[in-house]
Amino acid sequence: MHSCGPLWMSLALLVFAATVGAGDVPEQLRLALTGVNGEMVVGWTTQLDAGSTVEYTCDGCGHFTVEGNASRYSIPAYTPPYTSPLLHCTAFVLYSYRVGHSKTGWSWTHQFMTKADVQPTPDSPLRFLSIGDEGTIKGAKEVLAGMLVAQEKFHFDFLVHGGDISYANGIQDIWDQWGQLVPWMVSVGNHEMRPNQTDAGFLYRFAMPTAQSGGESGNMYYSFDYGNAHMIALESEAQNFSAQYDWLKRDLAQVNRTVTPWIIGFWHRPWYSSNVEHAGSGDVMRGALEALFFDNRVDMVITGHVHCYERTLPVYQGALNDEAPFYITNGAGGNGMDDTWGDAPEWSAKRLAAYGFGYVELFNATHLHWTMRSSSDSAVIDEAWLVRPADRFQTRR
Ligand SMILES: *[C@@H]1O[C@H](CO)[C@@H](O)[C@H](O)[C@H]1NC(C)=O
Ligand SMILES: *[C@@H]1O[C@H](CO)[C@@H](O)[C@H](O)[C@H]1NC(C)=O
Ligand SMILES: *[C@@H]1O[C@H](CO)[C@@H](O)[C@H](O)[C@H]1NC(C)=O
Ligand SMILES: *[C@@H]1O[C@H](CO)[C@@H](O)[C@H](O)[C@H]1NC(C)=O
Ligand SMILES: *[C@@H]1O[C@H](CO)[C@@H](O)[C@H](O)[C@H]1NC(C)=O
Repeated sequence: MHSCGPLWMSLALLVFAATVGAGDVPEQLRLALTGVNGEMVVGWTTQLDAGSTVEYTCDGCGHFTVEGNASRYSIPAYTPPYTSPLLHCTAFVLYSYRVGHSKTGWSWTHQFMTKADVQPTPDSPLRFLSIGDEGTIKGAKEVLAGMLVAQEKFHFDFLVHGGDISYANGIQDIWDQWGQLVPWMVSVGNHEMRPNQTDAGFLYRFAMPTAQSGGESGNMYYSFDYGNAHMIALESEAQNFSAQYDWLKRDLAQVNRTVTPWIIGFWHRPWYSSNVEHAGSGDVMRGALEALFFDNRVDMVITGHVHCYERTLPVYQGALNDEAPFYITNGAGGNGMDDTWGDAPEWSAKRLAAYGFGYVELFNATHLHWTMRSSSDSAVIDEAWLVRPADRFQTRR
């Protein structure tokens, strides 16, 4: 049906850990975007280190196999992992794939979609989900279940995670169902850094397009283009933002807003939150980077950390400003709720203490629609339109 010319590029990486006593059938499959249209990274977890292979096929494009090498990290009382390769294709197509090795066993066959034949135009629609502060307790299971249902309804392109991810211990089958279809783009949270600042799990289990976006930070900060959006992940856990400032300045300078009219940032600690919990936790970062965001006319920012939901109006340096980004705190991914509000500043547009996930639709170059969805039934519990002038991209300050 679709023709497609998958070509092998060099192979990347992805390393995973396993739980002691698990079998050797691959589990915890994960997909990630690379920033190149049509490329996908697949990662998984196994117990034995006998080889890592991805076999994949698409309608009319033949069968392909990629070999990758496992690598491992080690922190006290914890070891294993495995590597997998970079898939590369150049057409809009549904892929079927499985991972594993003939010696140790294969995963089920899963599928993912690329949309690489669609030359992104400013008016090609894009949809993605956002979550943060997830964990593995009851609330997180509800949010996951809600997103699985939403996946069938909404057909979104990827998911951004604002940090405090935690692995789905005990509910691996849900991760398997979930991870098979949408790429997952993550940013680091404070709970990824603990204990003893051990960020190895975050660095090894994911493969974000850091190098592709001109950075050297592991998975800590990076950007990628997808459809009509330029997406930027930052590291709010940094002690010193000067390296990130330099990278961000370069990154924003090369965005072509004729191609990607939307710029959306995501990271962990909010710059604007009126919850008492973690008050001011993003202030140092905001002081270092907010002017860059404003000057480059960034549209929207999604964060987590505070376990609640809050949406702001467009705001800059604490004052309403129509040309500034608007901010979402979406730490309502399941790991407890902070229903502890201070006074509502004028920039605070909506505050909720309810579990859920966000859904962003970029209809075209001018219309962005944000909805916050309840985990139980995907019902809209908050929504906002951002309508930007079509010519807003032509000037930087
Ligand atoms: C895997 O490791 C072997 C042995 O070191 C090496 O020859 C091979 O090129 C590696 N493969 C990849 C895909 O990195
Ligand atoms: C953290 O570091 C301290 C001091 O080195 C050590 O005693 C402790 O076991 C470490 N904790 C973990 C969970 O690794
Ligand atoms: C932050 O890092 C930069 C570059 O490494 C250094 O020049 C600067 O002094 C640091 N600032 C602080 C406050 O530590
Ligand atoms: C931005 O992209 C448009 C459309 O592809 C192109 O015409 C224009 O030259 C690009 N601008 C820059 C500064 O590269
Ligand atoms: C952009 O999308 C919005 C929402 O669907 C629609 O109202 C508007 O007319 C669209 N604009 C263009 C130029 O297509």
